[in-house]
Amino acid sequence: MTSDAASGAGCAAVAVGGLRYRWPKARVDCLAIDDLTLAAGERVFLRGPSGSGKTTLLSLVGGVIQPQAGGVCVAGQPLSRLSAGARDRFRADNIGFVFQLFNLLPYLSARDNILLACRFSAARRARLRAAGVTAQAEAGRLAARLDLDAGAIERPAAELSVGQQQRVAAARALIGRPGLIIADEPTSALDADRQQAFVDLLLGECAASGAALLFVSHDLRLAAHFDRVLDLAQINHATAVEAGA
Ligand SMILES: Nc1ncnc2c1ncn2[C@@H]1O[C@H](COP(=O)(O)OP(=O)(O)OP(=O)(O)O)[C@@H](O)[C@H]1O
Ligand SMILES: [Mg+2]
Repeated sequence: MTSDAASGAGCAAVAVGGLRYRWPKARVDCLAIDDLTLAAGERVFLRGPSGSGKTTLLSLVGGVIQPQAGGVCVAGQPLSRLSAGARDRFRADNIGFVFQLFNLLPYLSARDNILLACRFSAARRARLRAAGVTAQAEAGRLAARLDLDAGAIERPAAELSVGQQQRVAAARALIGRPGLIIADEPTSALDADRQQAFVDLLLGECAASGAALLFVSHDLRLAAHFDRVLDLAQINHATAVEAGA
C-alpha cells in the first residue's frame, strides 16, 4: 500500500465499480451497482426500504464482506488487494463505524471505549500526534462536543442511557480522524429532537475533520444538511427480491 493510498490524499473517499454481491445460499443478487463515488469529505445520506441492501452495501464498503464481482476502493485502496489481516488493519486505520447496535464493551468506561479505536490503530495515534493532541485529550474533547458530561465519560458503557451510548459510539468512530465514517441507522433509538441534534453533531465533526460520511437512515427528515441524498433503489440494478424470485 502506498502512503498516498493509506492517507487517501487526492482520492475519492469511496469508489465502487461494477459491484455484484449475492449472499451465500441466495438465489438472486442482493446488490448490482455499476458506479458509486463519495468524494473526499462528502456527506451522503443513503435511503432505501427495509431489506433493500443498505447494511449489505455498508459491509462491502467497510471490507467486512467481499463482492463476487467488481470492487470497492476506500481512499484509493482497492480492498480486494488486501489480505484479510491487512484489510482489518486498513479498516481500523481509515474507517469509523457507528452501528445500529453500538458494539460498545459494556464493562469498559465510555472513555476507554472511545480510546479503544486508537489502541487498535497506529495511524489514528499518528494523526493525533501530528495534530499535537493526546488521545486522552481528544476523547475528552469529542465527549464534550457530543454532550457527554464528565460523569458519563467515566461510567461503564452498560450504565449509560441508549442516547449516551450512541454518542460514545460516534466519538469512538471519529477519534483519530479516519477519512470515512460509516453510520448504520445510528439514531433509531432516539426521539426526534435528539436525532436531529445527533446528526448535526456527526455532520459537524465530519466537516471539521474532513471525513466523508455514509449515513443510512429510513428517516428522510434527517437528510436536510447532507451534501447528497442517495436512494439505493436508483443505483441498485439487482433484479429481484429473494421472496419473489
Ligand atoms: N448475513 C446474511 N446472510 C444472508 N442474507 C442476508 C444477510 N444479511 C442480509 N441478508 C439479506 O440481504 C438483503 C438485504 O439486507 P440488508 O440487511 O442489507 O437490508 P437493509 O436495507 O439494511 O434493511 P434494514 O433497513 O431493515 O436494516 C435481505 O434480503 C436480507 O435477508
Ligand atoms: Mg440495515
